[in-house]
Amino acid sequence: MAEGMRPVEIVSFSRAIDRSGFSCGKPDLDAWLKQHAGHQERSNNTRTFLAVDPQSDGVLGYYATTTYRLELGEVARLHGSPRRRYPIPAVLLARLAVDERSAGRGVGRQLLVHALRGFVTASAQVGFEMVVVHAFDVDAVTFYTTHGFTPFADNPMHLFLTTKELRATFDGL
Ligand SMILES: CC(C)(COP(=O)(O)OP(=O)(O)OC[C@H]1O[C@@H](n2cnc3c(N)ncnc32)[C@H](O)[C@@H]1OP(=O)(O)O)[C@@H](O)C(=O)NCCC(=O)NCCS
Repeated sequence: MAEGMRPVEIVSFSRAIDRSGFSCGKPDLDAWLKQHAGHQERSNNTRTFLAVDPQSDGVLGYYATTTYRLELGEVARLHGSPRRRYPIPAVLLARLAVDERSAGRGVGRQLLVHALRGFVTASAQVGFEMVVVHAFDVDAVTFYTTHGFTPFADNPMHLFLTTKELRATFDGL
């Protein structure tokens, strides 16, 4: 595995940036970036951000975000009571992946921090109660719990961070 921190630039999705060589070890996440990210961006369905190294071509990592809401059943389980009468508005960190050649060098953390800072900014304009992530596997669950997320009781592959926690961590940073 490569050694040392790899500082990256994180930029909004652009078709001009070559995605063809991206390989994170999870074919579904690779294919989504190559085949679907552009269309989803144009249709305003998701926003994708790319980690790039200005010195070299290609994408080192990416994340994608969209809106989300927890339905009443999920809400009741989350709060341990059926008292909530309305779904919870949330945002979803739908995908986050790092090219295997840059793994273990802090690119994933830089992408996550960038995403969370963006959510702090968004939360000043649009109300939502939490950030939800869908982890791809148990390794990804560890990645997210390391960074403050809590697994849902009924589905530990889905995790959340409340907007209150988010703002307490990132506001003013
Ligand atoms: C999970 C993933 C995004 C991590 O990216 P990365 O750039 O290798 O991670 P970083 O180097 O930024 O590591 C940040 C921290 O998370 C931890 N971490 C990273 N990958 C981890 C893993 N697979 N399991 C447990 N912890 C992990 C690191 O130990 C580090 O913590 P430390 O600084 O306390 O040592 C990357 O391995 C990946 O793309 N995996 C395939 C796709 C995937 O599973 N995506 C996740 C959600 S869909």
